[in-house]
Formats: sequence, structure tokens, C-alpha cells
Amino acid sequence: MDLIDLRSDTVTKPTPGMRKAMAAAEVGDDVYGEDPTVNALQERVAALLGKEAAVWVPTGTMANQIALGSLAGMGEEIICDRNSHVINYEGGAVSALWGVQSLVVDGARGIFTPEAVKAALRASQSEHDPRQKAVAIENTHNRGGGSIWPLQQLEAVADVARGAGLAVHLDGARIWNAHVATGVSLQKWCEKADTVSVCLSKGLGAPAGSLVATTRERTKAVRRLRKRVGGGLRQAGVIAAAGMYALDHHLQRLAEDHQSAKKLAASVPFAWHTPETNILLADVANAPALVEAARQEGVLLNAVSASRIRAVTHLDFPISQVEEAARRLRKAAARL
Ligand SMILES: Cc1ncc(COP(=O)(O)O)c(C=O)c1O
Repeated sequence: MDLIDLRSDTVTKPTPGMRKAMAAAEVGDDVYGEDPTVNALQERVAALLGKEAAVWVPTGTMANQIALGSLAGMGEEIICDRNSHVINYEGGAVSALWGVQSLVVDGARGIFTPEAVKAALRASQSEHDPRQKAVAIENTHNRGGGSIWPLQQLEAVADVARGAGLAVHLDGARIWNAHVATGVSLQKWCEKADTVSVCLSKGLGAPAGSLVATTRERTKAVRRLRKRVGGGLRQAGVIAAAGMYALDHHLQRLAEDHQSAKKLAASVPFAWHTPETNILLADVANAPALVEAARQEGVLLNAVSASRIRAVTHLDFPISQVEEAARRLRKAAARL
């Protein structure tokens, strides 16, 4: 029985067309800025997101962290959602790498309000207070179940941050999904952000690769931090070519992943949170037990807590497989 892997949209493998593009890529030394494929990808993504420039990095974690490291430093503070990726899944990097502390606010499915940011702002600039430097937003929100920010709310949060002299970082690992699900342009989603990180290795199906998009001036700091954390790759064009291919062939098809998520939720009687994009969450009695039962039936899921499971739809899970996945999951539930 072939396993159906719904643990994450990162489990996809490069398609034959993508591998061909990688093999044929023109390359150079990217630390010298001489890799034509990396340069083309950087320019393309910057233009897509409406920013002056972009810097290619191998991972989303590195993209987030060097973006944040360019905005805040030792003894300074960022404001972010309690469940945000930047503080929950990146190895404590904001504090370990940059000496930055985070002040968390509580969002609904990861989406917080301008009022919450106002309440988190430190009124005093006294010697007692850490300097607040940035607000980090995640769209779509991973732990929120692929939730999409209402555009106006995102803009209002950014305006409060800007008004208080703070920068805005957008973790847009899955901004592509927000764009395809809403029809809101990528430029509009990113307009209010000083730094944006995007991933090519999630829904877009590349084996690796992320970018930080920002001003041309800030890319100097971002490139410096990339070097510092060992992210200066040499002939990275072989990987960047996969990203180029993904943008050409895999962006619009994200709509299928969103449809698959809805179809799966409708076909399996779990307490699903209403899917907005490609990430499905369900509250269950015993998440590890259900994950194990599903594995025995040939479906891989993640337990994100003792009582919550996650399933993610992606490029290697065509909508034609949804019925089979649903059948296996119903069988798994019946085992418990
Ligand atoms: C919202 C979000 N940001 C950043 C990342 C980090 O990406 P990477 O795994 O490439 O470091 C992820 C990974 O899943 C993510 O979901």
C-alpha cells in the first residue's frame, strides 16, 4: 500500500520537469553575486512581491531570522503572535542568534488585532524598557491552520507598528496560498512590510529555497547576516532553478490543494477547523493514538498537540487521492 503523506507540504519531491530545469541551470558563485539563476530568481521574486530587491537563502528559518536580525538586535524586542513560527519552530533563534526577546500577543488562529499591538507597546522609553523594534506577522499562519489575515486587519496592525516607529516583518512562507485563495495580489499582501520572507519549498514544491524581500539598502545587512549564519552558498543556481520552475508551474495549482483540503474535511467526520487554505486542523480525543492508527492505515499525519492533529495538502497529493485518504482515515478512527 502506498503511503499518503499529509504531514506537511514540505514532503513533496521535485517533479521530472523541475529536475530537468535544475540540471540545465546556468550557475556562478552566488557569494560573489555571480549566479545568474539566483540573480534572476531574486529579481523575479522582488518584483512579484513589490519590493526593491530580494536575497536567496536555503531555508525559511534563515529567511525569517536574518530578516529579523536586520531589524532588531541585542536587548531589543519584537512583538509577535504566541503561536508564530518565528518563536515556536526556529530553535529559539531570535534570542540565540541576535539576543532579541519576544513579547507575545494572543491572536485568533494566529491573527491578532491592532488593539493587541497597541496594548503591547511600551509607553516609556526609560532605561527599564527593552527597545521595541518590529512586529512579526505570519500569513498564512501555520499553527493557526493555514489561516489568512483579513487584509484590512493586517494593514491596521502594520499601521500601528509603523506609527510607533516599529518595523513590520511578514513571514510569508505561504503567502502564495493567501494570494491564490483570496485573489489579493502578492504586492498588496506585502505592501506594508519592511521585510518579507517567502518559501519555495512548501506548497510550491521546490526541494529548498526561500527569499527575503526588502529595500535594496537593507539587502546589504541581510546578505551580511546570511554569510554570518553560513548561508552563503556558491553555485546555488541549481536549487534556485527549482524555485523558478515552481513559480512557473506550481503557483496557480495551489487552488487544487485548497479544494482538496475542503474535500477531505467534508469526507472525514472529525472536528475540523474550517480550512482556509491547505492546512487542516482537527481537535480529537487522543492525537498520538489517531496518528498511529492513521499510519497503520497508510496515512501520515502530524499531532500538533495531545489533542490536535494536522493534515496538509500538497503537490504530491492530487485531488484524485482525497477519497482514498478519507476512506483510510475513517477506518483509522474506527480502530480507536
Ligand atoms: C510559517 C513558516 N515560516 C517559516 C518556516 C520555516 O521554513 P524552513 O522549514 O524552510 O526553515 C515554516 C516551515 O514550515 C513555516 O511554516
